[in-house]
Amino acid sequence: MSIKTCDLAITGGTVIDGTGKPRFEADLAVSGDRIVALGDITAFRAQRTLDASGRIVAPGFIDAHTHDDNLLLRRPDMAPKTSQGVTSVVVGNCGVSLAPIAMDRAPPPPMDLLGGREDYHFASVADYAARLKATPPATNVAMLVGHSTLRVGAMDDLARPARPNEMDCMAERLDEGMKAGAIGLSTGLFYPTNSAAPTEEVIALAKIAAAHGGIYTTHMRDEHDGVETSLDETFRIGREAKIPIVISHHKVAGVKNFGRSKATLAKIEAARATQTIGLDVYPYIAGSTVLLDTLIPGAARVIITWSKARPEMAGRELSTIAKDWGVEPLEAAKRLQPAGAIYFMMDEADVRRIIAYPHSMIGSDGLPHDERPHPRLWGTFPRVLGHYARDVGLLTLEDAVHRMTGLTARTFGFKDRGELRVGAAADIVVFDAATIAARADFDHPLEPAAGIDHVIVNGEAVWQEGRATGARPGLVLRRAGG
Ligand code: ZN
Ligand code: CU
Repeated sequence: MSIKTCDLAITGGTVIDGTGKPRFEADLAVSGDRIVALGDITAFRAQRTLDASGRIVAPGFIDAHTHDDNLLLRRPDMAPKTSQGVTSVVVGNCGVSLAPIAMDRAPPPPMDLLGGREDYHFASVADYAARLKATPPATNVAMLVGHSTLRVGAMDDLARPARPNEMDCMAERLDEGMKAGAIGLSTGLFYPTNSAAPTEEVIALAKIAAAHGGIYTTHMRDEHDGVETSLDETFRIGREAKIPIVISHHKVAGVKNFGRSKATLAKIEAARATQTIGLDVYPYIAGSTVLLDTLIPGAARVIITWSKARPEMAGRELSTIAKDWGVEPLEAAKRLQPAGAIYFMMDEADVRRIIAYPHSMIGSDGLPHDERPHPRLWGTFPRVLGHYARDVGLLTLEDAVHRMTGLTARTFGFKDRGELRVGAAADIVVFDAATIAARADFDHPLEPAAGIDHVIVNGEAVWQEGRATGARPGLVLRRAGG
């Protein structure tokens, strides 16, 4: 037998390969950025060996839904994500992307979730991608072009549909973005920057993304009472633009909509027969975004995550602040603006039903620039694996891993990722199935996960022994086979 060399051997572990199939004992060999052997690796002599005895070896997790556009630049170690085993992130969600726009004024909410005017200086997606290549982050990244970003860049008044010349401008920038490697278009039709766009405006832009083999992701117009109408609109956009769709952070919000996920999932399942539909979900009954009057009445609790006007209020409940100030909650909210908040507005049974739905991907929707962020930023993936899979038994560990790896890679067209097999990219996480847990919670939102031993991106360790290694092997991922 001829002995070959490899850079890294991971031995003694139990492999969950990302396809959803049952775990198996296997060793794994990595050379450069690729997996070169899986199973019997006795033909290889490794430069370095990781002992994974008693541990699970899985594909690195793909965060299907993020707002990490600026985190990749500001904090390239990406610790909120790598600490959970995440090796790739999809940015530009909910209609908000850092590129393409060079901002000459303060970004209107919700664009301020990514940063201030000084952060929005990438006039093209090519500029942003070039910056990611010049100063790479620890994780891989796939870029969506946000509809709000396009609208803010092209229109002087966002409270109306785009005019033909504005459509031309948006179309041109989106086309440039797709050519520069963006994987598709995102909308946030719920938000004030996006909500005046009629369905036809979205379809016209989605057709451009489709022409480049792209995908369409959407924070729908209504996740409350009108959630089913919004699903119909989303399906129509997919059909008319002939584009695969992803429903972002699927939820049914507001007390009177509790239980409606039965209807929404049935509707999605039925539509899947005739078009390509994906969805993502985060494992919490609370949502988070900018502080919006429209979301306050439907929420059982509102916690302030940041406030420009009153920074010291971050972490406090809106109702307590209002009481202290002797005003109504809506008046208190006005005085805190611009601001962000966490809203307890979902039912646990709906959240579980959506997570258990076999086509749901896991996405954090984390907001990395918030003073006191929703714990989903640091806790999403270990919470699904530790709490919902192991402790609650809502899904098998194999299935849970599949929804954060293989399914996600297939949905977004990340060839050679999301599965452990010979020839695949060496994005790997080694974790302890017995101890993996989210330690971030609403009182301590910045705690790294427990039970994550090693996180490897393109063959390089980015997180081990509870800290970032400093390596930055992240690549810009393109969508294949669109
Ligand atoms: Zn959203
Ligand atoms: Cu989002």
